[in-house]
Amino acid sequence: MRTRLPPPQNRKLVTALDVGSSKISALIAEPGEDGSLRILGTGQRESRGVRSGFIADMEKAEGSIREAVEQAERIAGINIDDVFVGYSAGGVSSTVASVEVAIGGRRIEKGDIEALLGVGKESIEPDGKMVLHAMPAFYTLDGMTGVKQPVGLHADRMAVDIHVIAAEPSPVRNLDLCVRSAHLGVQAIVAAPVAAGKACLTEEERELGVALIELGAGVTNVSVFAGGMLVGLKSLPSGGIDITDDIASAFGTRRAEAERIKCFYGSAMTSPRDNHDMIDVNPLASAEEGVEPSRASRAQLIAVIRQRLEHLMGEIAAALKELGFSGPFGRQIVLTGGGSELKGMADYAQGVLGRAVRIGRPRLPGLPEAHSGPAFATLVGLAQFAASDELDIRAIGGTGSAVQKQDASGLFGRLISAFRSQY
Ligand SMILES: Nc1ncnc2c1ncn2[C@@H]1O[C@H](COP(=O)(O)OP(=O)(O)OP(=O)(O)O)[C@@H](O)[C@H]1O
Ligand SMILES: [Mg+2]
Repeated sequence: MRTRLPPPQNRKLVTALDVGSSKISALIAEPGEDGSLRILGTGQRESRGVRSGFIADMEKAEGSIREAVEQAERIAGINIDDVFVGYSAGGVSSTVASVEVAIGGRRIEKGDIEALLGVGKESIEPDGKMVLHAMPAFYTLDGMTGVKQPVGLHADRMAVDIHVIAAEPSPVRNLDLCVRSAHLGVQAIVAAPVAAGKACLTEEERELGVALIELGAGVTNVSVFAGGMLVGLKSLPSGGIDITDDIASAFGTRRAEAERIKCFYGSAMTSPRDNHDMIDVNPLASAEEGVEPSRASRAQLIAVIRQRLEHLMGEIAAALKELGFSGPFGRQIVLTGGGSELKGMADYAQGVLGRAVRIGRPRLPGLPEAHSGPAFATLVGLAQFAASDELDIRAIGGTGSAVQKQDASGLFGRLISAFRSQY
């Protein structure tokens, strides 16, 4: 039964919902005039029915979603209707579509932009995929690239590069259906790296070139930003859960115990003391059954963790290479997600990947302590994305004429090409 107050008509609230493989979290916030966000309530539940970011059991996942949102509603003292949902599973691609219209030498008006974006809307070809974002990146006036604000300028021809992020339709539909089954409206489904990038990268990092690696429980998302936006992403279906499972099977213990040992004693870095530090491990059978805890050295634990990490880092390095993150562009790497909380993770990644690595925590004043760690980067970024009112061309009505469709050859396309080939 919902007994709390609905938000007053004139109050614009945003609700973020992150459906992760280990936890489901919700955040209700009120955007201020100055672009700030006032947090009204947060909620979190253990995730059930979600595997590697995909919905694997509709009923269980729906229950966890409902409980997480209800908790946030209780704290906020408000009922919400719609949510912005993060999508972190695989099958997401990032491409650029470019379209052009004739202006005929006169000054560009607002209506011309709308017509151009209307043409763009018709021309995004998702290739059987579902479009999550279609955002205008740069305008080109008579060959002059990188124009951000073309209104008022004279030109013969005007083109725009549209950044399109698309996903495999079925898993997105399942997520959408699952959230709606929890009696919530879906305002938008946002690619997790877009959200996490908003929460823990600076504008300058996104401009100059940075890689963001979100180490989740069941998914590791590798994404690359340049020229202010997300230019490539790759999703790996493994994460912290695999480390926990390796520990559980290596030491013959329960997952919950393995998780505790990992978070308490685990590390990505070795030290000479590790051979002397002994850890009590509760075996699968309980104490009542007369089985005593066994003992393992911290060195043994770290060896198990390192073996999995080496495999994961190999995959991350290959993904970064595939995405063209190398040379002067590829100096800075930001690690986020709950998996980045493993002790020594930044030092370890820096050594293996050979680049400056820092841990990215969401930056938002007033964030409760419990939700301010890197595991909440996507959640916080979703709220920031929701409040930012980013222009999506799918929200534009009307179509234009005099279309000349091109390949991704504008500044944005070239930026990516340069990024991929030059270094
Ligand atoms: N202190 C810690 N040391 C090591 N690992 C940690 C620590 N804290 C959290 N983790 C790991 O982080 C993972 C959870 O990360 P996160 O909350 O980002 O995942 P998720 O959003 O639920 O899942 P996903 O995004 O992969 O679907 C778990 O595997 C957990 O073991
Ligand atoms: Mg996650």
